[in-house]
Amino acid sequence: MVNVIGLGYIGLPTALMLAAHGVEVVGTDYNEEVVKKLNGGETTFKEEGLDELFFKAVEGGVKFSTEYQVTDTYIVSVPTPYDKFTKKVDAKYVINAVESVLAVCPSEATIVIESTVSPGTINRFIKPVVDEQNINKKIHLVHAPERIIPGNMVYELLYNNRTIGTEDRMVGEKIKALYASFCQGEIVVTDIRTAEMTKVVENTYRAVNIAFANELAKICRYDNMDVYEIIKICNMHPRVNILQPGPGVGGHCISVDPWFLVGDYPSLAKVIDEAMKTNDGMPDFVLNRIYEIMKDTGLTDVKRVGLYGLTYKENVDDMRESPTMQLLESQERHLATGLKVYDPYITKDVVENQYHDLDVFLRDIDMVVIMVKHDEIRNNSFKLEGKIVLDCHNIIQRQDVYHI
Ligand SMILES: NC(=O)c1ccc[n+]([C@@H]2O[C@H](COP(=O)([O-])OP(=O)(O)OC[C@H]3O[C@@H](n4cnc5c(N)ncnc54)[C@H](O)[C@@H]3O)[C@@H](O)[C@H]2O)c1
Repeated sequence: MVNVIGLGYIGLPTALMLAAHGVEVVGTDYNEEVVKKLNGGETTFKEEGLDELFFKAVEGGVKFSTEYQVTDTYIVSVPTPYDKFTKKVDAKYVINAVESVLAVCPSEATIVIESTVSPGTINRFIKPVVDEQNINKKIHLVHAPERIIPGNMVYELLYNNRTIGTEDRMVGEKIKALYASFCQGEIVVTDIRTAEMTKVVENTYRAVNIAFANELAKICRYDNMDVYEIIKICNMHPRVNILQPGPGVGGHCISVDPWFLVGDYPSLAKVIDEAMKTNDGMPDFVLNRIYEIMKDTGLTDVKRVGLYGLTYKENVDDMRESPTMQLLESQERHLATGLKVYDPYITKDVVENQYHDLDVFLRDIDMVVIMVKHDEIRNNSFKLEGKIVLDCHNIIQRQDVYHI
């Protein structure tokens, strides 16, 4: 039996996927509300294909509990934020989860850490906890970082390649077989530190490339050039593939993990440090663009300006570290208020001046800022007729649209 610890965006689909493929699974989360909801037959967040997977997993006998189980295999997928001051990974959730596992697990149990951690974290922080608490138990530690992207999680769980880090080849093969119960991608077995580093490097690669596109957008804005046309032409070069600029980076991976490298190697990770600052500066840049465009168009009342989208990416309901939340915080720091906000995926009231209906939102504003490219706005772009539009994603095909 596998006990999956932490039933969030990563742990829940993983537990369901294993159970749907014939593995006996108990999912454990210390949040009673989460466990109650799952036991009541409901998933806890929106994700393409998740409800269907949930039903298959229930048929496969998946169970949910707040209790840690006595078994031989654990998968830990709890949060790993970074310390805002030192930029280093904050491993306290992983340490707590591992301590709770150690209190119940038998000797020879394997603890798989799926949470993203910086290179060396498992040896520096987790192994000492294991060594300290279990004089009589032999415990195997494995790192199996997760790569899936919200919005396409179910598909990517099935088809992405995976990495397994371990110091024990036999244990590596056992865990590889477990993931192979559902994963059709290639599964590479390596050592723990390498596995830790690969995950952080993958997200850093993305962050640096996004930052490059954002920097180009800033240069082109400064000197009045069309960044989209320039990127389009450059990408016709056989060895150039520039990403698209945007209003910032959010979520739990690309806006967080590269900081681990800056925190651990401050004198070496220079490009990464600058890239992260560039991305983090984009919401402020958009705020400034709003100000410029208001001046340009003679719009004086900020209450007539609305932000479309609160989530950190399109077609998901995850708002963590989202550019819109960062922009609203920035607005607050400037002691200003008034921007209206709407997101079709956020049904609860989470910020001031929030709307829950696109038509009512648009009725109450003259200027709309497209922060997130949800399908809804792509399909309803005709409703923006007559509005001033700041399109941060270049999705609206209209001559008079403003860009970042
Ligand atoms: N969300 C993503 O897109 C994504 C993608 C790849 C990797 N990751 C990584 O996966 C890890 C998990 O991220 P997430 O987005 O699923 O987080 P999350 O916040 O959605 O879920 C974490 C869950 O763990 C529970 N939890 C925390 N400590 C616990 C404990 N000691 N015992 C039991 N339950 C506990 C919380 O209640 C929560 O439900 C992180 O390291 C993250 O960086 C996330």
